[in-house]
Amino acid sequence: MIALACDHAALELKAEVIKILEERGLAYEDFGTYTTDSCHYPIYGARAAKAVASGKCDRGIVICGTGIGISLVANKIKGIRCSLCSDVYSAKMTRAHNDSNMLAMGARVIGVEIAKEIVAAWLDTPFEGGRHQTRVDMITALENGEELE
Ligand code: RB5
Repeated sequence: MIALACDHAALELKAEVIKILEERGLAYEDFGTYTTDSCHYPIYGARAAKAVASGKCDRGIVICGTGIGISLVANKIKGIRCSLCSDVYSAKMTRAHNDSNMLAMGARVIGVEIAKEIVAAWLDTPFEGGRHQTRVDMITALENGEELE
């Protein structure tokens, strides 16, 4: 199950992401917003991030104008590793190395075709584990208030 959320700036791009998920037969839950009325991205980003953190959803995709605000919000939720991506290489690497569980994109920053490629790469790339698991565990430790050194 993929959690989705956006603000008013990203409704159209979210619709494109929904098409990709439907083409792939992937289940999703859309946590809003559902109109182009101006809204507050923290509300929607938090809904999607909490769904991922709780295990209700496996991963999440969140979109706002820049992708920055909604990624900041998602990363405030414990257990979330939300990656703001504007290129395919980063989308692949953040899955392979960071075990990213949420993808953020900026609808006013990237075009729809690159966004589709980013989503595909992020969905398809597995986490490599190994030494990268050690580093992801360090992120979790920091989140838990532990010292790294
Ligand atoms: C909305 O105008 C805009 O601030 C929002 O979509 C996002 O870019 C915030 O980071």
